[in-house]
Amino acid sequence: MKQTSINIPVQIFPDSKTLDPADSLLLDAAHKATGDAYAPYSKFRVGVAVRLDNGQILTGSNQENASFPAGICAERVTLSAASAAFPGKAVTDLALTYINETGSSNHPISPCGICRQTLAEYEQRFGRPIRLILGGISGEIYIINRATDLLPFAFSSQELNPR
Ligand code: THU
Repeated sequence: MKQTSINIPVQIFPDSKTLDPADSLLLDAAHKATGDAYAPYSKFRVGVAVRLDNGQILTGSNQENASFPAGICAERVTLSAASAAFPGKAVTDLALTYINETGSSNHPISPCGICRQTLAEYEQRFGRPIRLILGGISGEIYIINRATDLLPFAFSSQELNPR
């Protein structure tokens, strides 16, 4: 038996004022996008902003449905929109934030499991890491260098191809 461990580097900033201006701009865009969320059921409005490798910024938000599983998280809304509107352009950075209408927004949230799987495949498709900027309306900001850091031992398309 041998044992190993997985280490995930996380940069923690005390607040958005201490971020690099480009990161702060992306997080601001994500904050604005919470206004476009359709979240009448959870009252949890999520905003995402992505930067593409051509510098373009796109935003998205969670879109819920009365049939709850049909709802889509802000991350997948935004990644799909980016891929449909700008095919072939890699996402290099993704900022994620939220407003909880029934609670607070004073710490980062991180992508759900399905979104982690989706992010992992975008990284693989484009051969580029997607840097995550995670923060609430106030509180600390976490920066994670690549989305797959959040999904160790991910299942990927490589498993589907017989070797
Ligand atoms: N949600 C997101 O859009 N992204 C996340 O990272 C976490 C959760 C959405 C799904 C649902 O509309 C609401 O937040 C509450 O779970």
